[in-house]
Amino acid sequence: MSQLVAVKNITKKFGAITVLNNITFEILSGEVHVLLGENGAGKSTLMKILSGIYKPTGGEIQLGKNTFKEVTTNQSRDFGIRLIYQELSVINNLSIEENLFIGSIPTKKIMGVSVVDRKKMAIKAKHALSCVGFKKNPKILVHELSISEKQQVEIAKALIDEPKVIIMDEPTSSLNDDEVLNLFNIINSLRSAGLGVVYISHKLKEIPIIGDRVSVLKDGHHVGTWDAKTTPVEFLVNKMVGRELTHSRPIGDKVDRSSIIFEVDSLISKDKFVNDVSFKLYKGEILGFAGLVGAGRSELVETIFGARPKSQGNLTLSNKKLDINNPTDAIRAGIALVTEDRRETGFFHNFNVAQNISILPFIKSSKYALSLESLDFKAENKMGEEYKNSLNIRCSSVKQNIVHLSGGNQQKVIIAKWLAADSDLFMFDEPTRGIDVGAKSEIYQILREQADKGRGIIVVSSELPELLSVCDRIAVYRGGHIVEFIENKDATEENILKSATI
Ligand SMILES: Nc1ncnc2c1ncn2[C@@H]1O[C@H](COP(=O)(O)OP(=O)(O)OP(=O)(O)O)[C@@H](O)[C@H]1O
Ligand SMILES: [Mg+2]
Repeated sequence: MSQLVAVKNITKKFGAITVLNNITFEILSGEVHVLLGENGAGKSTLMKILSGIYKPTGGEIQLGKNTFKEVTTNQSRDFGIRLIYQELSVINNLSIEENLFIGSIPTKKIMGVSVVDRKKMAIKAKHALSCVGFKKNPKILVHELSISEKQQVEIAKALIDEPKVIIMDEPTSSLNDDEVLNLFNIINSLRSAGLGVVYISHKLKEIPIIGDRVSVLKDGHHVGTWDAKTTPVEFLVNKMVGRELTHSRPIGDKVDRSSIIFEVDSLISKDKFVNDVSFKLYKGEILGFAGLVGAGRSELVETIFGARPKSQGNLTLSNKKLDINNPTDAIRAGIALVTEDRRETGFFHNFNVAQNISILPFIKSSKYALSLESLDFKAENKMGEEYKNSLNIRCSSVKQNIVHLSGGNQQKVIIAKWLAADSDLFMFDEPTRGIDVGAKSEIYQILREQADKGRGIIVVSSELPELLSVCDRIAVYRGGHIVEFIENKDATEENILKSATI
């Protein structure tokens, strides 16, 4: 296997902060190189340097036989490097086909004038989409696609124009099991064709399945590179987190069945995606919702939250009947919702970390959504500092803009924001998407503490091990309603899946 691209002794500083320190890393043809590290370790930054998005502060980049101090996005692209971003970058109001060709529209000359070569576009689009097994009409708008379909379009976009190196930054974070298998088939065929693939993921069980080599970054340093098939995952976790992790299963011994915190009775949404749902949530309980992607669990929490109109149903929280018509009503009634899509609905893009964390108490207490006299910058920063410490959020300061945080750290800010709202009912939709293995256990601990304090906790997750390790009881959801409740002690991945599919 020959070297396709490499970085040598790369350093990257943002202001006074060094986020990459003397990194040497190479990508060979025909290999899948897994890149592992905690949230904020520097994985995405390193890949952005290879793609020309960031300029390194020191070191060099080798593309084929040529060595550069820095590369432009065009140089990187022309060499054949494609980066599939951690956050979806498709544009909703363009068609699938148009998205595939952003920055690389094929042209032809007609009487000396360059025009878009629609025929070539259609052929290339068809090829790239068929490589990822995508069947929808390429003329429809991306807006109409689910998150996982958007992710497929992102991958197809990277396959246009015969790439040499494909970098996938958490590509499976919103794919279901079948879609992950499909992606692995695509990656295997890329590898057989001699491409180099960099694969970033927090799903550790994927490492030996898809990887050939694995490199670990910690705090901007390269810890080492090992064989991905034979190196035990525990060893890698230790290199990445610096400690052993303990796993415990909740017993649910603090659940008080005589005290109901939250009750949903015969809830139906106007669009019928929620189709007659009833359940009770007890004091001290964490209730999980399992189901296949598309079963309608996100629609359920959105309807409870007033983000989706309902046609009937009663909600009771702490013995009070609720009248919720929009999310502001829900927030004021003491309900929190961590949504599935962090970039679109998770945070305020132009706010700093402290402002994002402290916005909800203002919304809750002020008559208007936000009134100027209610702003208290000192309190805002203090609250930001508290959550930065308790959730171990990595940022240069709480005044850093949230868009400059790593993906996992943005997710922690979103969780902090809702914890700060001091709600009675917390609903988490895929709460640990993109969160590293060490931080996950910290978040599970926080959920348990909240439940022990008497707050109602609902967790929607596609990760069955996550549901099994945090929830006291699991509601299996299918076709817009609950088909079965399974107590944690009786739950296994097999019986949940069976109940979710039949
Ligand atoms: N444009 C920027 N300005 C300032 N700091 C930045 C910028 N981009 C990244 N950083 C910082 O660099 C560090 C590394 O971030 P990076 O996104 O590379 O982490 P990561 O390993 O990809 O983490 P995750 O698993 O959470 O995605 C973080 O502390 C982040 O705040
Ligand atoms: Mg990242």
